[in-house]
Amino acid sequence: MNAEFQIWRGGKDSAGRFESYSIETTEGMVVLDAVHHIQSNQAPDLAVRWNCKAGKCGSCSAEINGTPKLMCMTRLSELPVGQPVTIAPLKAFPLIRDLVTDVSWNFRVKKKIPPFRPRKPDAPDGTWRIAQEDIDRVQEFRKCIECFLCQDVCHVLRDHQQFESFSGPRYMVYLAALEMHPLDVEDRIPLIKKENGIGLCNITKCCTAVCPEEIRITDNAIIPLKERVVDRFYDPIRKLFNLFK
Ligand code: SF4
Ligand code: F3S
Ligand code: FES
Repeated sequence: MNAEFQIWRGGKDSAGRFESYSIETTEGMVVLDAVHHIQSNQAPDLAVRWNCKAGKCGSCSAEINGTPKLMCMTRLSELPVGQPVTIAPLKAFPLIRDLVTDVSWNFRVKKKIPPFRPRKPDAPDGTWRIAQEDIDRVQEFRKCIECFLCQDVCHVLRDHQQFESFSGPRYMVYLAALEMHPLDVEDRIPLIKKENGIGLCNITKCCTAVCPEEIRITDNAIIPLKERVVDRFYDPIRKLFNLFK
């Protein structure tokens, strides 16, 4: 079957536009296959970032028909037939060229988060005892592949450009993994309130809707962290107690 693709072309210093490409598709093709086919046969200078083609490296994020998705995990058969498929770069981050954006801001945010700091071992053999349910709780957060689709879709970053004040859902997941880790003793709650700006999240849940790892970002990471911030800073009994300290 023949299919049409509208792919964003342009660099950071040039006016961009969608360009049309038609290819013959085959059964089981994913959007990244189509992009590779176009790159090999019609547009050798088309810039696209990818690595694993297995939904695990988080490199091939793009906006497919307006929705942030992994190109390697989106089958053409899932998309409306007979209509051109639009493929655009992530809108929230600065464009480098064509489908490639500069996501380095994310790595700078991560560097500022205090790392894992374990408590002292509690067994004579120098190891720890941990309840299985405590381990299970953080396991979900460790599935993150840093695709930044959640960062791209969150309106606080995408539309309001609050890059200085809000770290975004990906880092709420990272912070939750550290804060809820049963061995960790670092206190990041003041940072989560101020530098990471958790108060700017108004729980729209768009991040959860696009996560390819199906991490329940809002319910399992953001809301529990918000509760910890509220307990620390807005609990009236605690506030009263602090007055007399
Ligand atoms: Fe991607 Fe999900 Fe990780 Fe966000 S939380 S970066 S959407 S895997
Ligand atoms: Fe943004 Fe997710 Fe909150 S989309 S507003 S971080 S629930
Ligand atoms: Fe690795 Fe798509 S190429 S997630």
